[in-house]
Parts: sequence; C-alpha cells; structure tokens
Amino acid sequence: MEKRTSITDLRAMKDRGEKIVMVTAYDYTSALFVEEAGIPLILVGDTLGNVVLGYDTTVPVTMEDILHHVKPVVRGTRRTHIVADMPFMSYQAGPVEALHNAGRLLKEGGAQSVKLEGGSKVAETVRTIVDAGIPVMGHIGLTPQSINQIGGYKVQGKTPAAAVRLLNDAMALQDAGAYAIVLETVPVHVARIITEKLDVPTIGIGAGPETDGQVQVWHDMLGLFTDFRPKHAKRFANLGPLIVDALRTYASDVQGGAFPTEKESFIKQPAPSEVEEMKAASN
Ligand code: KIV
Repeated sequence: MEKRTSITDLRAMKDRGEKIVMVTAYDYTSALFVEEAGIPLILVGDTLGNVVLGYDTTVPVTMEDILHHVKPVVRGTRRTHIVADMPFMSYQAGPVEALHNAGRLLKEGGAQSVKLEGGSKVAETVRTIVDAGIPVMGHIGLTPQSINQIGGYKVQGKTPAAAVRLLNDAMALQDAGAYAIVLETVPVHVARIITEKLDVPTIGIGAGPETDGQVQVWHDMLGLFTDFRPKHAKRFANLGPLIVDALRTYASDVQGGAFPTEKESFIKQPAPSEVEEMKAASN
C-alpha cells in the first residue's frame, strides 16, 4: 500500500528548507490531477462554498458539504495528504462539538487531518482535537468565516500591535499542538517573522514568498473562477475561456450536424427483419 504524506514529512520539509505545496480540490477528477502533479497536500477547503456552490461567503458551508467533497478527493488519491476544512459553526461552539465533527471528517470522510480558523481563542479546541489523535492545521490572518466581524477581505496584521497579536496566535496554536499554520493575507514581514519563530511549517496565501509553503485555490490558479480575483492568486492557466470555446464548438457542431459522426456512434448493420420488427413494435 502506498503511504500518504504525513505531518512528520511536512515538518521534515520545513527543517530541510523544502517548500511545501498545497492546493485546494473538491472532487475525484481534480484530485487525480493533483496527485499526478506530485503535490503532497490537498485542502478540501470551505472555499468550495464560493467556487463550487456559488455562495458569496464561506459562512453557509456545512459539515455535510465538506464530507460530500472530501470523500471523492480521498478516493482519487493514494499518496496525497488530505486536509478537511472545518466549516463555520462546526467547532466555534466548543471543544466537545469540535472533536465530534473533526472525528467525522477522518472517520466518514477519510481525511488525514483537519483545518480550522482562529488563534488563541481556539487553542483549547485545537488541543482537545489533537489530544484525540487528530492532526490540526491552524489558520490565522484573514479568516473568511469571520467576514461579518472583520468587515471585508482586508490585509491583517498591518499595525505593530496587530502583528504581535498574530504572532501570539501562531504560538498559541503551535503550543496547542497544531502541526502547521495557514497565514492568509498578511504583510510579508509579518509572515517571515512568524515563520522564523515557529517550529511547525507555515503555509501562506497572500503572505509572500517567505512562508514554508504556499496554498492556492484550484479555481483561482486555473482561471476557472471569474466572480472575484484575489490579488494573491496567480493564474497558472486560463482554462475558463478554453472551456467556453469548447462548449461553443460543441453547440455549433450539434446544430450544424458535425457531431456526432460515425466515430462517436455504434454502428451495426441490422438484418432487414430486425428493422421491420422494430418499426412494427413502435406502431
Ligand atoms: O478554504 C480554503 O480554501 C482555505 C484556503 C484559502 C487556505 O482556507
């Protein structure tokens, strides 16, 4: 049996100075591509609310949504470590409910670890989940589940006091047992200092080049999502226009009779009696 990337592998990568690459994925086919590309970490992120389910925010995403998408991603991979995002209100009410939901993501979903948003305030919850044997990835900086409190997708940790708060949050998560921490939309120097201070890897998105790793959202990096284009997203391909072109060609081929041809058809020369029999049966 092949071995999936483990949290100790990720820690060793930080120690060796080897960059960690993570990407989101939400279905079986995408997961196959990620594994073929040799990327060691997939996040089944609650961004699925935005890019797959069409919500304005990640707030409406449920445990059932995440479970529904984690399962095919797990089925599409053998070596990749699958991180399941804990959706809004699956852990905020307290450690007991959080542990129950984290457990579901591993037991029912098949993920290898979970991710949740927040710093010192969720440290006790992180400790409870980790103590039960479930690896936890933290997530600080811009935490989209708190968008109604933050009031917009803004850079976090801009003032010296806010930067120190972020560092303290990162330390609290590490002390609580988090194996890695996502830093989202924070200034480069803040991400650098946090990365230097922590023993566990940092994974940045909009946090500059000096974190231990990077994460990108599948639809953003492949040019599949046009509603909103975050500054931190780089388009490594622009598949959206290719898809529209392909769909237009399909439609015009169907309308103009160019599709399907013999190549896409199942041809068997029927006996004359077979044709007569069919015609009679339909009368
Ligand atoms: O849900 C998600 O995709 C995330 C990443 C943006 C880190 O949390």
